[in-house]
Amino acid sequence: MQAIQYTAFGNSEVIHVVELPQPEIKTADDVLIQVKAASVNPLDMKIRMGFMQQMRPVTLPFVPGLDASGIVVAVGKDVTQFKAGDEVLAVTMANGYAEYVVANQHFVLHKPANLSFVEATSLAVNLGTAQSILFTEGKLTAGQKVLIQGAAGAVGATMVQLAKNNGLYVIATASGNGIDLVKSLGADEVYDYKTQDVTKEVSNLDLVADCAGGDSLQKLFVVLKKGGKMLSIAGMPSPELAQQHEVEARFVSSNLTAQNIAPTLDLVKAGKIQPIIAKIFTLAEAAQAQDFLSTGSTNGKVVLEIA
Ligand SMILES: NC(=O)c1ccc[n+]([C@@H]2O[C@H](COP(=O)([O-])OP(=O)(O)OC[C@H]3O[C@@H](n4cnc5c(N)ncnc54)[C@H](OP(=O)(O)O)[C@@H]3O)[C@@H](O)[C@H]2O)c1
Repeated sequence: MQAIQYTAFGNSEVIHVVELPQPEIKTADDVLIQVKAASVNPLDMKIRMGFMQQMRPVTLPFVPGLDASGIVVAVGKDVTQFKAGDEVLAVTMANGYAEYVVANQHFVLHKPANLSFVEATSLAVNLGTAQSILFTEGKLTAGQKVLIQGAAGAVGATMVQLAKNNGLYVIATASGNGIDLVKSLGADEVYDYKTQDVTKEVSNLDLVADCAGGDSLQKLFVVLKKGGKMLSIAGMPSPELAQQHEVEARFVSSNLTAQNIAPTLDLVKAGKIQPIIAKIFTLAEAAQAQDFLSTGSTNGKVVLEIA
């Protein structure tokens, strides 16, 4: 089968299309999938650059790709929910940029019929992450107020929709074309982070859900009410500032199990959450796809469509 692989860390020149043996069912929980689409996630580039070797080490040669959608080819003996021919999406945490991938059944979901393979894979990481930050960790309830920083990105655009579907008041930051996108997704207030200072406009919020990281995250403590939460999927909020503002603050590692994603996928099936696709590339264009996402200002998800 064709796959994308690299044998050294570095910029996108390390990426090559290679011929590899098709993976096989090895454990009772395995689901072998013929891949039709796989997302490009910012973590793919952090891993490729070698930046994650302390926190989340990988061994080389490495096939990137955190998720995939496609058609089930074979299943392990303990798999009862999926059979050959089923259309699925899956979180694999590696190996998604390939014509075939093996996923653990607990990270596989049936693809909603109203989604293409490209759309389905685009939502896998976003849905699990948005659910984790808003509800599993954020514990928000209807009527509460959240600031979503980086709301037009892949995760942010899904998070805005999930928040609005659950009756939250959403304040969003974005820039460029992302402003109109986030407004169209239902955000109640949208601020251009390049030209406006959101900290002068809002206060007394229940949660900051940060999808951007960097220094801007530390400036947002002032918008929280006492007892509020600063949760980031992209950076480490300062414990000193958290103490000073009397709020909870931490990095959130999302729960990407099928169990955590399933309730949000029901909203997708009902047409209440839309996939937002920034651009589609082929498998052979994986390096360009990663460079495209690295340049920023992509609204929604970059996806590889695999023939
Ligand atoms: N912890 C976890 O479990 C987990 C899970 C998923 C993702 N992540 C991480 O979360 C981050 C977001 O992922 P993603 O897939 O949504 O990436 P993405 O599509 O690249 O989106 C990032 C967004 O952040 C915006 N942004 C950048 N700087 C900003 C600033 N100073 N203020 C406000 N917005 C800013 C960008 O807007 P412009 O394009 O307009 O600049 C962009 O829309 C990545 O770092 C990713 O690795 C972590």
